[in-house]
Amino acid sequence: MKFFVDTADVDAIRELNDLGFVDGVTTNPSLIAKSGRDILEVTKEICDMVEGPVSAEVVATEYEDMIAEGRKLAEIAPNIAVKVPLTLDGLRACKTLTGEGKMVNVTLCFSANQALLAAKAGATFISPFIGRLDDINLDGLELIADIRQIYDNYGYETQILAASIRGANHMSDCAKIGADVATAPPAVIKAMANHVLTDKGLAAFLADAEKAGIKIV
Ligand code: E4P
Repeated sequence: MKFFVDTADVDAIRELNDLGFVDGVTTNPSLIAKSGRDILEVTKEICDMVEGPVSAEVVATEYEDMIAEGRKLAEIAPNIAVKVPLTLDGLRACKTLTGEGKMVNVTLCFSANQALLAAKAGATFISPFIGRLDDINLDGLELIADIRQIYDNYGYETQILAASIRGANHMSDCAKIGADVATAPPAVIKAMANHVLTDKGLAAFLADAEKAGIKIV
């Protein structure tokens, strides 16, 4: 499973990139706003740092405007994936932009039917939002499994990009189901390394090493 990092914080991306954990980046208007930076400038900096796809989202809601914004975003760098919302205008924009050879990430997906339409529109990525479904007592992981089954039934090449990930367990759960990609905030990706038994075991090993006077260099 590929790891995308869900942030527009360039320092956080750099730190994870240096660890080899960044296969791509996703941003959205809320994350760009949180960065306090100009969308074109910060997105360019991210694209220069990361080899994989960098999702940048349109803010228009009408087809023509989405196309204009999508084309402008795609000019930033060859690794831009234009992010469009899962509306009929967004799906139409997806079809046009993928027809021009651009990567498109269809976002705000909350149902298997929506994911089916995105695949038919030729989306490069579909972004089902797990956490936001869980927030309203629906099952986000069940949606990932349903989309996996549907895409496999028909050989759709659209990649399932599990989004709105809230905790480290979501990452392994998505990997078990077979999501192609999971995008998570930097803190969640780092939290995947944590285990209480690792901490406890390391403390015991270090105490024994000190007692025995073990020195390596
Ligand atoms: C995905 O592309 C979105 O940016 C993101 O995962 C949304 O997550 P949230 O529900 O935590 O805002």
